[in-house]
Amino acid sequence: MAVLDSVLKAYQSPTRMVHAIGALSALGDEAASLNVKRPLVVTDQGIVKAGLLDEALKPLRAAGLDPVTYDQVRANPGIALVDGGARYYQSERCDGLVAIGGGSSIDAAKGIGVVVVHGGSIGQYEWGKDPIHSRIPPLVAVPTTAGTGSEVTLWAVITDPDRKVKFNVGGTPNIASWVALVDPSLSVNLPAGVTAGTGMDALTHAIECYTMAYHQPFTDAVALLAMEYCGRYLRVAYAQGHNLEARYHMSMAAMLAGLAYGTDSAGAAHAMSQTAGGVHDAPHGALTGRLLAPVMEYNYAGEPERFARIGSALGLEVANKPVWKAAEVGVEYVYQLTEDLDIPSLNELGFSEEEIPLLSEKAAADSQSVGNPRDVDARNYEKIYARAFEAGRHRRAARTLAHART
Ligand SMILES: [Fe+2]
Repeated sequence: MAVLDSVLKAYQSPTRMVHAIGALSALGDEAASLNVKRPLVVTDQGIVKAGLLDEALKPLRAAGLDPVTYDQVRANPGIALVDGGARYYQSERCDGLVAIGGGSSIDAAKGIGVVVVHGGSIGQYEWGKDPIHSRIPPLVAVPTTAGTGSEVTLWAVITDPDRKVKFNVGGTPNIASWVALVDPSLSVNLPAGVTAGTGMDALTHAIECYTMAYHQPFTDAVALLAMEYCGRYLRVAYAQGHNLEARYHMSMAAMLAGLAYGTDSAGAAHAMSQTAGGVHDAPHGALTGRLLAPVMEYNYAGEPERFARIGSALGLEVANKPVWKAAEVGVEYVYQLTEDLDIPSLNELGFSEEEIPLLSEKAAADSQSVGNPRDVDARNYEKIYARAFEAGRHRRAARTLAHART
């Protein structure tokens, strides 16, 4: 602890956070206040079909802006999509960005911003390669899910289909959105499966950032409240999609868990899910959610007091338990939550047990393995993957048990 305490830590967020039920009506004024006149609106076809793009264009036009739409974003956005967006931005002479959608649209917009300012291809700006020395153009990020927290993080995750990896871009305030405009009502019509996966992603951000070596008091504070909201409201948002109180708190949980990153990265669950997501095109939230409990089970030995506090934040009875038992209660809860939210198994997400050695090597090579609460290497990842596959096989049995309780 003394060694960690001597490491200089800092927290910086350049993002203005604006939020309310109905906040989308303020989108035009927020963009105009950044002197944007012709924003590139980055989104996906799901948002177009749901009518949310039209809802976003109304306040932009009402404020006198002349928006241009780039609606080709798909899940796990790749290098070509980002580079193509940057070329479109320049050919249309845009002067700012609006992202509306899940983490894929927001990450794509951040990537477009990096390429517009620095030139070349987004592949050059993988973390550790070319520096991002200048701030991206004004970006207003409007999340329509409650999960990635990308509206406030200093990262974008981009897929390289040739190398079959997802790589991180950022770690600097220069990539952050200028405004995060959070309107929880936009998530009301999300399918239950998307609510579950994205909500588990937010919970994973909070738990990983709270237990990684990089934690500091500010990130602890936001991570713990994010866990508290997830513990109280994730099941409700899943069970009652229209419940605005649950949607509001999950949107706040996602934002707080995004702030919990600071300038640092998440942990082993993300080292696994991001590398695996480059191998098979699986939804990030469901994949990360499926891996969270096995990673917690592996990790709690390294930080028992922190894992005991996680149990408390999730609303579990830990007050009169010894620290080891309290830590285990949190792990068991997340295993059960994974089943109650019907998170798909790794097999259902497209993976097979034969891929465990490959997936484990990739996770061990990911920079998010550094600072894990427990020493972890490829052999350990094989054990964690084996547990995750095993938990998925017991899905049906667990679901039967859950029904029997109710
Ligand atoms: Fe994530």
